[in-house]
This record gives sequence, structure tokens and C-alpha cells, in this order.
Amino acid sequence: MLVAGNWKMHKTRAEAAGFCRSLRDAVAGIEGVEIAVCPPFTALEPAVEPLHGSSVAVFAQNVHWADEGAYTGEIAPGMLLDLGVEGALTGHSERRQLFGETDVGVGRRTVAALEAGLRVIACVGETDEERETGETEAVLARQAGAIRDAVGPHKRLTLAYEPVWAIGTGKTATPEIAQEAHAFLRGILDVPILYGGSVKPDNAAELLSRPDVDGALVGGASLEVESFAAICVAAAAA
Ligand code: PGA
Repeated sequence: MLVAGNWKMHKTRAEAAGFCRSLRDAVAGIEGVEIAVCPPFTALEPAVEPLHGSSVAVFAQNVHWADEGAYTGEIAPGMLLDLGVEGALTGHSERRQLFGETDVGVGRRTVAALEAGLRVIACVGETDEERETGETEAVLARQAGAIRDAVGPHKRLTLAYEPVWAIGTGKTATPEIAQEAHAFLRGILDVPILYGGSVKPDNAAELLSRPDVDGALVGGASLEVESFAAICVAAAAA
């Protein structure tokens, strides 16, 4: 079971350091759950320091495929390792939808990060319109298939199923919808699969109790220690 908090574009260095000191204490007694936070690039270093030696890992929100080079605005896997960062998200739907990231690019980012020694949570998920028009499985097969073709199963790879219509909307997938999508994805790529999209303390236990749901990727509810720790507690009980 893995619970990861995606902070998106939130928190200064000082806020990150304070949050991580409190989180470390809040989750110290929780067993059987891996926990990760994904601060923005500028807050990675202040997050690493207070979490060093704790059960909480620090992941970046994205990573480039090249070791170095003329890629303005991008961050290489080795730069993250240099900070003490353990892993990275790839293919978040906001990267795909707002910044034009493609299946091929997500595959390249994922394989390069894994080869460099990082862990990766690679995100996939259909939009509202794709679900309405019955394209969910085709979209998931295309997105997860591109990751499988680039990497194959890998011991440091995790998938996150994040239906776009459930992200930041308060509209969570039912546990049945999540289970169905996770089982489908597992047939394509047999790695742990997190659910993401409006996960909150009050719906986490039910979602995490499904057999193919191996954890959660949490956005909004990961920004406060209390709600994020409550989700970690629910995961430990699931
Ligand atoms: P949310 O975001 O929990 O705020 O819906 C999830 C995500 O985008 O990872």
C-alpha cells in the first residue's frame, strides 16, 4: 500500500519544511503503508531534509528523460537524485492536458527515471468525454500500453489510475469504477496501481479496500497534515 501526496503548485520552502516536520511525527506510528510527498521542484530540498531517515519518501512531480542538455525548464533524473529525491510522477493528466505531454514522451520520461534509479508513479486516466463516449478502455490501453512498451513491468514502477473527471472536482470514482479500471490496467501492466481523484479521509477506506487498488495518489487532501495523515491511517487499516 502506497499513499502519495501530490502538492501540485503549492507551498513555499518554509511551508514545505514545516509541513514535513509535522507529517513525520503524525505518521510515525503507522505501519504497513509507504508514504510519499510530491512537492514542487523548488520545495524538494526543504522536504528531503526533515524526512531523512523517516518512512516518508520525497518524489518530484515530473522528470525529463535526458541526463542534461538544451531542455529549458526541465529537470534531469540525476538532478533529483542529487537532492536526495527518491522518485517522480510522470504523465499526470495536468501535464498531458495543459502542457501537451504525449504518450511517447511520458514513456521516455518513465524509462529514463527508472534507469537512473528513481521510483516512478506513472499516471493514466480518461476524461469525462472519453468515458461518456465509451472510450475509457481504449484510452487506458493506449496510455498504459505506451508505458509498458517503453519499460515493461519494473520493480520501481507504480501506475496511478486518475480519471480526469474526478481530479479536483470532488466527484470521486465509485469503488466499483476504480476496481474495474484497475483490473483492466493490471491486465496491461502488472505493477501496483494507485487510485487518484478526490480521495479524502472519508472515502479512502472504501476505495482502498478493493482488491486491485494498491494505494492512493492524493491532491487537495494532501495539503494539510491532518487530512493526509488520516488517509494514511485508512490505508493502514485497509
Ligand atoms: P485531487 O487530485 O485529489 O485534488 O482530485 C489528485 C491528483 O491530481 O493527483
